[in-house]
Amino acid sequence: MSKNDTIKKRYNRIAPIYDSLELLMEKGKMGGWRQNLWQKVQNKIDKAGMKLLEAGVGSGKNIEYYPDDLEIFAIDFSPKMLKEAEKKAQKYNKEVNLLEMDIQDLDFEDNYFDLIINSCVFCSVPDPVKGLKELKRVLKQDGRIIMLEHMRSQNEFVGKMMDLFNWVSLYTWGANINRKTMQNIEKAGLELVEVNDLMSDIVKEIELKK
Ligand SMILES: C[S@@+](CC[C@H](N)C(=O)[O-])C[C@H]1O[C@@H](n2cnc3c(N)ncnc32)[C@H](O)[C@@H]1O
Repeated sequence: MSKNDTIKKRYNRIAPIYDSLELLMEKGKMGGWRQNLWQKVQNKIDKAGMKLLEAGVGSGKNIEYYPDDLEIFAIDFSPKMLKEAEKKAQKYNKEVNLLEMDIQDLDFEDNYFDLIINSCVFCSVPDPVKGLKELKRVLKQDGRIIMLEHMRSQNEFVGKMMDLFNWVSLYTWGANINRKTMQNIEKAGLELVEVNDLMSDIVKEIELKK
């Protein structure tokens, strides 16, 4: 089985219980981090007809925050996660084009989106640099990528612990806890606009441009 199929299968498996598993985290810090991220998005809406992509929409936890005045596309490669996202779109009465698609091979033309958002996605994209390069390709020249991502700590001890226990989250969730996301961003040729550490150096809100 390819790496893509393995990760997809894990998210399909976990999709029906994904929200319950993450409930505590969402009620804790994560919910607030999401709200801040979408406030940042709101502040960037400065013209009509802007296009936004949520890459790796998952079960649709960001959908309730989608601004009403944008054309929104949300993609994921797990059909079962997309099914959960569809329920959220109905629940919150949001207009969103939900599509089954691979971040590493996006079916959008170059320079298409004004804003690209992702939360907790590049821990599981099988080839993160390829995925980030695809986001760069579909981002407009003056566009912005805003992401909320957890990654491997730079602290030697904590980083090594994350390496040691990575297999647990990889097997159950399909997510890695030891991704070197800042290096991956650099390898993809994206430029940092702003980086905020939210939890030590492990969870960050990052704004990027091409
Ligand atoms: C940890 S979940 C996060 C979901 C959501 N963004 C959130 O904040 O709750 C990661 C999601 O990324 C999706 N994903 C991982 N690799 C992908 C890829 N190559 N293409 C599309 N979706 C991908 C998974 O299917 C999963 O739904």
